[in-house]
Amino acid sequence: MDVLVTRSLPGKALELLSNKHKVDLWEEEVPIPRDELLKRIKGKSALLCLLTDLIDEKVMDAANALKIISNYAVGYNNIDIEAAKKRGIVVTNTPDVLTDATADLTWALILSAARRIAEADVFTRSKKWKEWAPKLLLGADVYGQTLGIIGAGRIGAAVAARSKGFKMKVVYSSEFESKVMEEDLGAQRMTLEELLTVSDFVSLHVPLTKQTFHMIGDKELSLMKKSAFLINTSRGPVIDENALVDALEKGRIAGAGLDVYENEPMIPEKLFKLKNAIILPHIGSATHATRAKMADLAVKNILAVLAGKVPPNQVA
Ligand code: GLV
Ligand code: GLV
Repeated sequence: MDVLVTRSLPGKALELLSNKHKVDLWEEEVPIPRDELLKRIKGKSALLCLLTDLIDEKVMDAANALKIISNYAVGYNNIDIEAAKKRGIVVTNTPDVLTDATADLTWALILSAARRIAEADVFTRSKKWKEWAPKLLLGADVYGQTLGIIGAGRIGAAVAARSKGFKMKVVYSSEFESKVMEEDLGAQRMTLEELLTVSDFVSLHVPLTKQTFHMIGDKELSLMKKSAFLINTSRGPVIDENALVDALEKGRIAGAGLDVYENEPMIPEKLFKLKNAIILPHIGSATHATRAKMADLAVKNILAVLAGKVPPNQVA
């Protein structure tokens, strides 16, 4: 059957896919243009797409044989799930395999924000370092502080688990009570407002939905301690970016560690200038091994559906 793949992926998974099916691969290292996507989706039984591809009704209507949309990501806010359901198109994602890589990157941001790693590297590189000094590049402690996790899914729990070595107190806020968080990790559940008030590091691990859009805005930022840091490796629109930039500019919070933005790949000009923000280009799952495993999973989901079987990671 015919499969449209919107980008070349690391690892061997696409080879496996082309051994079994006819693959139409968008080979350029830029997102497939909308008109190309609309043209090429026609007649395809499966679509392997990226989180940067908007898969809405228009794409689904342009497709006339589509059985599965396999997203190369755990988050699937780029896909109109209701529209897919209505048309009987299966949607799958790539959970689990990227949990640890994303949790690791979240910690890289926590430590970098607290200890001013990016700023210190630029300082050293620009040959400004003259000698050891008692007040040079002072940062914040991570050890023994309170970590607030918003969203108690797999990634949130993996971030919490890593805090053990730092002897942190962990609190979480989530729609549902998490046994893993409470029994395995000793985390206390509280409301979002309480969490924002007590945490030294606030880390976001919710999917982007209508409910989580702008869940952190002006009011929420103003509840945070002046000494606290906000970390986001989930989805940009969960934070009201203008409100965050304002809080960072005015020093209403100590800093932010960001891997995601409201309108990627656009980043507000002001963020580039703020020393108290660490800004990364959406690389949460970007390790060689993880990105290959994501490709394996995305292909497995397609092979299952095209063979008439239930795919391992169906979300709709
Ligand atoms: C990456 O952001 C993902 O959702 O996998
Ligand atoms: C992501 O899949 C999560 O559950 O955190």
